Amino acid sequence: MSTPSISTAIRNSLEILAISDKSTGIKAKFGDDLNRVDRYSLDFGQFYMDMSKTHISQELISIYMEFADEIDFVGKREALLAGERVNNSENRSVLHTLLRDTENQGISMSDDDVLAQAKASKAQFVDQYHQIQGQLSKREHSIKDIIHVGIGGSSLGTQLVFEALKDLNSSIKVHFIGNIDAHQLVDVLSQCELASTLVIGVSKTFTTAETLQNLDSIASWFKTGGVSNPLAHFFGVTAAPSKAHDYGIPANNVVSFPNWVGGRYSVWSSVSLSAALVIGIEKFEEFLSGAAALDKHFYTQNLESNGCFLAAMLDHYYVNFLDVKSRAIFAYDYRLRSLVDYLQQLETESNGKDRQRDGGPVDQQTSPVVWGGVGTDVQHSVFQMLHQGTSLIPSEFILVRDPDHKLIDHHQELLANGLAQTAALLEGQDKAQIDNIHAQDGLTDLAKKAKIFTGERPSTTILLDRLTPKTLGALLAFYEHRTFCFGVFANINSYDQMGVELGKRLATQVKPLLESGQAQKSAEVFDPSTLSLLNKVRNS
Ligand code: F6P
Repeated sequence: MSTPSISTAIRNSLEILAISDKSTGIKAKFGDDLNRVDRYSLDFGQFYMDMSKTHISQELISIYMEFADEIDFVGKREALLAGERVNNSENRSVLHTLLRDTENQGISMSDDDVLAQAKASKAQFVDQYHQIQGQLSKREHSIKDIIHVGIGGSSLGTQLVFEALKDLNSSIKVHFIGNIDAHQLVDVLSQCELASTLVIGVSKTFTTAETLQNLDSIASWFKTGGVSNPLAHFFGVTAAPSKAHDYGIPANNVVSFPNWVGGRYSVWSSVSLSAALVIGIEKFEEFLSGAAALDKHFYTQNLESNGCFLAAMLDHYYVNFLDVKSRAIFAYDYRLRSLVDYLQQLETESNGKDRQRDGGPVDQQTSPVVWGGVGTDVQHSVFQMLHQGTSLIPSEFILVRDPDHKLIDHHQELLANGLAQTAALLEGQDKAQIDNIHAQDGLTDLAKKAKIFTGERPSTTILLDRLTPKTLGALLAFYEHRTFCFGVFANINSYDQMGVELGKRLATQVKPLLESGQAQKSAEVFDPSTLSLLNKVRNS
């Protein structure tokens, strides 16, 4: 049995505050405090965040300050920075931030060996980048397509960086192949030509079944096209270089990164080689430096005004004391269309845990469901539920002030919509307002009731001046630190992902049973439902 992760005194204080927050709501907080917007907004330099439309209050912050003392939050933050094995179930440090400390901010507490590893890894990445660029410039056929083969953390961040930062006129397309479902692979290969396609296999472990099988099938496609040893032309990015060599990728084509870079934290490493090849290494360096600026904020700012801490505080308060089950993120920028997928893995794979750090069961709620989409598309689908559904769903609106196109009317409309949604979620619309709006048109009472919006739905707005490598780097680093803070509050290990293993192991047992004649064996191994489904698949 673990010791309680949150003291009775803190729990009681938060429960009492939650009762009051449920009855008074958010709107009243604006009336009580004319400086509320300033008080609860933060300028990170790279972006601005307004939390005033949430349940944040001085009382809430004070309670979390006490909580932070009780759980030695600052000590835990230092332990992370100092390279202690905070990933205790896998006995690993978590030091991906070293890869982006490009301006040597002096916040690193790591020893010289680790710093040397970080530098070497970065140097190898940059070197490989230049080598590939050099080779590409000498090729008879210039590269038009890069196939990036990788899944989860070995792809989601890179795809986001590519989509967010690529020049709209870029002549190189990057295709991200992760899924074992070959419909995607067949589709991508149908768009590529052998002579102008570069393949990069990305896998921290270089053992992931989907990645290896996709690489095999792409190699067959090259062979069919007359290339006798395709693997000799493939590149590999991994923390297990020997595995990539064993697979057949030549040593010169393998770029490694240190084991202390977790999969979902690896966008800062050579995992992003394919995106860097398109956006250019200079922009990639800026992306790293934007993240480093945010690191400095997280590691040096007092907790009372630390944006990562405060955002995580709200996440934790909402799921544990205001019955929240999910959090939604809406990027009002098409270029950030993969942000939600990326953050979903970051937060739910990190904090969707039911064990405390010592292995005992958790005594709190952990990660909410993280979901969302792109504005304004989402307004015509899920926003009905956001405004009038029965669950409280804190949401985040990410807006970019200046676009990188000239269709200013579109952009003004986009921003107007994003801002209007946050106002509508807070304000709602009561019967008197509806009566007023429909005084003349004879709208039925039933229809009027259906138009009631209760309001009081929390939202946070994040405003970027522009979407640049720096602002994107800072934004992703912000979410990483927020994820860390939540893990400390919940006393869980945010850096393992054991929950993905069982299904993978069972899949290796199911696959042979899909072959006919294995019915007897299946019955020994699986439950009646799985057995029945197996039979249906076999008989089809
Ligand atoms: O299945 C989960 C996972 O281990 C993720 O954590 C990881 O990002 C992904 O698979 C890919 O793993 P790898 O980079 O080793 O191929």
